[in-house]
Amino acid sequence: MSTKAKFQAIRGTRDLLPPETALWNSVEQTAHEVFGRFGYGEIRVPIFEPTDLFARAVGGNTDIVSKEMYSFPDPPIWLEILEKVGTIKDVDRTENTFSIKDNLSNRSFMAEILSLRPEATASVCRAYIENNMQQLPQPVKLYYLGPMFRRERPQKGRYRQFYQIGAEVLGGTDAPTIDAELLEMLMSFFAKLNLSGTTLDINSIGHSADNCRRGYVAKLKSELEKVKDKLGSDSQRRIDTNPLRVLDSKLEHEQPIIANLPKIADHLCDDCRAHYTEVKRHLDLRGVKYRENWRLVRGLDYYMRTTFEIIAQGLGSQNAVCGGGRYDGLVELLGGPPTKGIGFAIGEDRLILSLLEAGQSPQAASRSELIYIAWMGQNAYTTAIRAAQTLRAAGFRVELPPVELKFGKALERADKLGARHALILGDNELASGEWTLKTLADGSQQKLTAQALLEYLRKL
Ligand code: HAM
Repeated sequence: MSTKAKFQAIRGTRDLLPPETALWNSVEQTAHEVFGRFGYGEIRVPIFEPTDLFARAVGGNTDIVSKEMYSFPDPPIWLEILEKVGTIKDVDRTENTFSIKDNLSNRSFMAEILSLRPEATASVCRAYIENNMQQLPQPVKLYYLGPMFRRERPQKGRYRQFYQIGAEVLGGTDAPTIDAELLEMLMSFFAKLNLSGTTLDINSIGHSADNCRRGYVAKLKSELEKVKDKLGSDSQRRIDTNPLRVLDSKLEHEQPIIANLPKIADHLCDDCRAHYTEVKRHLDLRGVKYRENWRLVRGLDYYMRTTFEIIAQGLGSQNAVCGGGRYDGLVELLGGPPTKGIGFAIGEDRLILSLLEAGQSPQAASRSELIYIAWMGQNAYTTAIRAAQTLRAAGFRVELPPVELKFGKALERADKLGARHALILGDNELASGEWTLKTLADGSQQKLTAQALLEYLRKL
């Protein structure tokens, strides 16, 4: 036995393996199709960006930015700095870079702080600005797929590297029809995947003005102060840092207290209330079913007005399979022109878990007919190569064993791989020009020419 230490995937990361990856591919293919039909184009943004992009967009006080980002200096000079601990003189930290002067050598180190993306909305807005997309026909409709990184406590449905499928609509108008169509697209995506039992929760959290959300938050805060003693420590802390997040609490003993708190719907300004009413009317027009949830506040700072979440079955406590909302003003906050925006991100890991729990088989997602070629003798191998090429070109999956196997062993292997047919190629087949096709389920055999074989398989 080897004494070398084995490597393991980092906590919270995992390998996605076949056959499950077939289900991932089919989900992603469905996203390409459904989003494409609604006029969305795919955007691919970098995996890492300046830390400050996320800090500014998502918010410095959010859990994501304050404790969950994987950040590092570029160039990666941590070690050099650590070696110099005690001799470092000036640390000069600007927004997204820091420079450090070493007392002894008088050398300076400069680095930019980067982070693995914890989400992609900030990056899409950055890309919108950087690529002058405001000059394109508006609104610009984009979608993306890929890994995100958050250092959360891993559990079922929660990982440190996880995958999102998201979409964003950016442009000059905040018409409620945009919100409604985005949600219609989202629900038709889930319907296309046959994911039943999802519920769409919606809310409006207004905009940040005294006569709207800011006024509400002040009122909420003063009501929370009155019941502070009865709340758990997390909620007590949030009264100061982010009172809205208290509404997210799942603690049982806090539920009756939260039920009696003031509701944001009663404190929206006229414009935000009218916007919300219109969003609901347009959802009804499109036949999109939803549930109003006044406690839905979301954990990222950029949201305003429409917010939503989708809950799926079979996921335990991590049951939010999608979250999103409107974020007018975010592009401006990142240095771009005044722009309205709305979007969502689906947690693909959770979506797959939910599909598997609902009994969808990974094999069913992609399996075309598998044909196993049982060849015997070097002459037959040459024919087997040609047969494999022809069958693959015709769209069949073909397993061509790299080394010769005894007949019985070959059939056993074919069975294990889930092949429905074995194509048997030996001296007899070569001599007669007729190949033997064996149906593995019942053991029946038939002789077919190459052309007849193709026609037969195509008809199955
Ligand atoms: P979010 O709610 O932070 O929103 O994430 C969206 C979804 O990603 C969640 O509902 C969940 O399914 C999945 N997710 C989040 N964290 C994890 C994790 N650690 N492990 C597995 N899945 C996870 C956003 O990210 C926003 N950018 C969505 C958005 C787009 N809003 C507007 N546009």
